[in-house]
Amino acid sequence: MAIETAVETTHANGPGPRPGDVIVTDNLWKTYEMGDQEVHALRGVNLRIRHNEYVAIMGPSGSGKSTLMNLIGCLDSPSQGKYWLNGHDVSELSDDELARIRNKEIGFVFQTFNLLARATSLHNVELPLIYNGTPAHERELRAKAALESVNLSSRMMHKPNELSGGQRQRVAIARALVNNPSIILADEPTGNLDSKTGDEIMALFDELHARGNTIIVVTHEPDIAEFAHRIITIRDGVIAGDQASGRVRS
Ligand SMILES: Nc1ncnc2c1ncn2[C@@H]1O[C@H](COP(=O)(O)OP(=O)(O)O)[C@@H](O)[C@H]1O
Ligand SMILES: [Mg+2]
Repeated sequence: MAIETAVETTHANGPGPRPGDVIVTDNLWKTYEMGDQEVHALRGVNLRIRHNEYVAIMGPSGSGKSTLMNLIGCLDSPSQGKYWLNGHDVSELSDDELARIRNKEIGFVFQTFNLLARATSLHNVELPLIYNGTPAHERELRAKAALESVNLSSRMMHKPNELSGGQRQRVAIARALVNNPSIILADEPTGNLDSKTGDEIMALFDELHARGNTIIVVTHEPDIAEFAHRIITIRDGVIAGDQASGRVRS
């Protein structure tokens, strides 16, 4: 694309976002203060993820995966370094703007589903729309459509304890999708599921990716990472590997 080439030339190979980038980080550090001890969970992460990429972030326990996901998801801020989300410098946003951008641009999926126990699937999926003031009628239509897109039309009025683990995670994915976010961020989304159900959830991410979503899945399981197209490995808070997955190579 002509425009892209022009911009890339302008920026040379410097940091900062280019057209089509969803996530760009430059020398991201996160240090946790633990009494008089400092834990450097991230030690200079440079990352560039483009629209409609399907990325797995891998690494052993304690390597900094969740910390990185929390920064990417604007749930926490870096100790040092820069982060651009869809071209916006996140460090320059106020807390309110950050909350709004998080709600609009990022769909979260967690290992433990994080659903409201006493609410129906429909209500759980409506929650992000309640936070941003979507009118009730539109809310219901969009929540129903999101539940349909994860094949849960028949479970709209069920509560989490009336659903299987895989169904609960599909409700959480519908909730992540309902605002039409630019990124789906999933931290160990199959960690509480048996391997067959986990594969079904990953097949659903495949579908979402095919529909144009940008997907980032954090996992310590190589089998799960292989569903993605690009695998980034993190070790001791730095990126130790970044390559195409077997799906793309073969
Ligand atoms: N809130 C916190 N306070 C202090 N240390 C933390 C906190 N969260 C994570 N850590 C530490 O930071 C490192 C990276 O943790 P984490 O990002 O959770 O790794 P992973 O998700 O790869 O298992 C670990 O050493 C962990 O103990
Ligand atoms: Mg983790």
